[in-house]
Amino acid sequence: MARVVLVSGASSGLGLSCARELATRGDTVFGTSRTARHDDGGVTMLAMDVDDDDSVARAVATVLERSGRIDAVVNNAGFGFAGALEDTSTAEARAQLETNVIGVLRVCRAVLPHMRRAGRGHIVNVSSLAGRIALPYQGMYSASKFALAGLTASLRHELAADGIRVAMVEPGDFKTGFTAARRLTAASGSESVHHDALRRTLAIVERDEAGGADPIVFARTIARLLDDPSPPLRTSCGHTSQRFAAWLHDRVPDPIAERVVRRLYAVPRRR
Ligand SMILES: NC(=O)c1ccc[n+]([C@@H]2O[C@H](COP(=O)([O-])OP(=O)(O)OC[C@H]3O[C@@H](n4cnc5c(N)ncnc54)[C@H](OP(=O)(O)O)[C@@H]3O)[C@@H](O)[C@H]2O)c1
Repeated sequence: MARVVLVSGASSGLGLSCARELATRGDTVFGTSRTARHDDGGVTMLAMDVDDDDSVARAVATVLERSGRIDAVVNNAGFGFAGALEDTSTAEARAQLETNVIGVLRVCRAVLPHMRRAGRGHIVNVSSLAGRIALPYQGMYSASKFALAGLTASLRHELAADGIRVAMVEPGDFKTGFTAARRLTAASGSESVHHDALRRTLAIVERDEAGGADPIVFARTIARLLDDPSPPLRTSCGHTSQRFAAWLHDRVPDPIAERVVRRLYAVPRRR
C-alpha cells in the first residue's frame, strides 16, 4: 500500500527533491509551502506556515480529509540566520527557533494523535551537521539544530512504546535555495565589531554551499529511512569529507575540534 507522506518546506531545495523522489517511488505525497502553490507533478502542494498553529492544523486536516491517514512526516521546513550572537536581537533569535524547532513540534503535535490511533507512523526531522558542530556567526541556526537534535532524541524515547518511528537526518552542505534565503541579523552592518569576520566567514560558507551535494542524495537518504523498520537516531548525508569531519569532531578533544572549526571558517585570533 502506498504511504501517505507529508513533507514540509517542499517548494524548494531538499524538500522539493525529497517530495518528488517519494512520489516517483509510489508514495502519496503532500508537500507544503507558506504560500499556496500549484501541484508539482505527483506532489500535492498545500499551504502551511510552521510558525502558525492554525495553518499547521488546517494542512494536517486537509491531508486526513483527502487520504484518510498520514503514515510519515518529513519535518524539513527551515531557514538560517547569520550574524554574530552579540548582534542577534531577541526577536531574531525567537524567529529562528520558532521555525526550526517549535515549527517541528507543532507539526508533530498535529499528526501524533492520528499516528497513535493507527498504531504506526514515521517522523523524520531534518537537522544539520550544524546541529553537531557549532558554527561561528550562525550561532542561532546552530542552536536551533542542536535543539532539534535534542527534541528528536526525546521524542524517540517517548514514542518507542507506540510503534512510531522517529529519526533525524543531518545534511552537510547542499546546493539549494537555503543560501539565498539566509537572513542576516539587523545589527550585522559595518558598525558591528564582527562585521569583517562575519563577511569572511560567510564567503566561505556560501562557497561551500555553492559546491554542496545534489539534493537527490538527501532525497534518497530520506526514502531509505522511511523504508527502514528500525531507523537509526541520526543519519548524516552529503559530501563524504563533511560527514567524516563531523564523525571526527565527535571523537577528538574539544580544543582540537575548536581549533579546526576556527581555521576552517577564518575566525580571527585577535581583534
Ligand atoms: N542546504 C543546506 O546546505 C542544508 C544543510 C543542512 C540542513 N539543511 C536544512 O534543510 C532544510 C531545507 O533547507 P533547504 O536547503 O532545502 O532550503 P530552501 O531551498 O531555502 O528550502 C526551505 C524550505 O522551507 C520552507 N520554509 C521556510 N520557512 C518556513 C515556514 N516558516 N513555514 C513553512 N515552510 C517554511 C520554504 O518554503 P516557502 O518559502 O515556500 O514557505 C522552503 O520550501 C532546512 O531545515 C535546513 O535547515 C540545509
